[in-house]
Amino acid sequence: MNERPQHILGIEPTNALPIPLILDKARDYRAFFSRHSHCHDLEGVLVVNAFFENSTRTKSSFDIAAKRLGADVVSFGSSGSSISKGESLYDTLQTLDAMAPDCLVMRHRCSGAAEYASRHVRAHVLNAGDGTHEHPTQALLDAMTLIDEFGSLEGKTIGIVGDIAHSRVARSNMHLLPLLGAKVLVCSPPTLMPREWDISGVERVSSLTELLERCDAVMTLRLQLERMQSGLVPSFNEYHRHYALRQPVVSRFPQLKVLHPGPVNYGVEIDYELANGPQSLIRKQVANGVFIRMACLWLLCTSANV
Ligand code: NCD
Repeated sequence: MNERPQHILGIEPTNALPIPLILDKARDYRAFFSRHSHCHDLEGVLVVNAFFENSTRTKSSFDIAAKRLGADVVSFGSSGSSISKGESLYDTLQTLDAMAPDCLVMRHRCSGAAEYASRHVRAHVLNAGDGTHEHPTQALLDAMTLIDEFGSLEGKTIGIVGDIAHSRVARSNMHLLPLLGAKVLVCSPPTLMPREWDISGVERVSSLTELLERCDAVMTLRLQLERMQSGLVPSFNEYHRHYALRQPVVSRFPQLKVLHPGPVNYGVEIDYELANGPQSLIRKQVANGVFIRMACLWLLCTSANV
């Protein structure tokens, strides 16, 4: 039997989460919800979705996941809350905690914010993205989508291209995919590559062509301009030429699958035709996201044996 985690803050430390169990439970929920619209697994559970940073798919995915499992859900963002009146994160967390939620799903622009929350609230904390640090449910839904495609990640090579330095999605995937048996290749302009990291199973390659030639699937990332101190990319045109997934180039590798966590900037990191074409797994990623979030909420908020 696995130990039930108190919080889901990241994929790292790598023994913190029962990953196969989460993936299995997500697949069970996907099968169940292909025939039903609701269940009672989280009846009586109160989930607060606190998104201090903008989000479309992650926020709606958590909302839908919790509601379909029968939980009571309250969602808010910083623009509609007292944060815009100057309230501190600590006070906001204390206020929310006084209303006794069972789970606090939290997105914040600061790395470490979810871990900070976990020390100041009684609720289970589920990290929905903290600064440049981690986005564990995104990596889990990416892994689920890749396993759907390949059966297993054992012996597969997955490329990640783009703004590695500022991407919590890249970081969580760089930890998760090797745990599932994949080799990870990363490629980015030198200004967008973290200065140091040492994650076994992850290799840096210098050209996009090399990455495409060696990979079974490639994930591209948005330029996270809001997290850059200064202009780290000389021009979008130049970036597109050297690092974008361009339709004429990628279609030369017809077996290659393409992923993107969204939101997409067409013509910068990926071409429209490719993102919406037969090689793309983007819609499947979004669909699987709901079931991964269901599985994570179930793991934290129910007392069923794991
Ligand atoms: C990502 C995020 O917020 O980290 N998006 C997401 O959650 N699907 C990536 C991004 O914002 O570019």
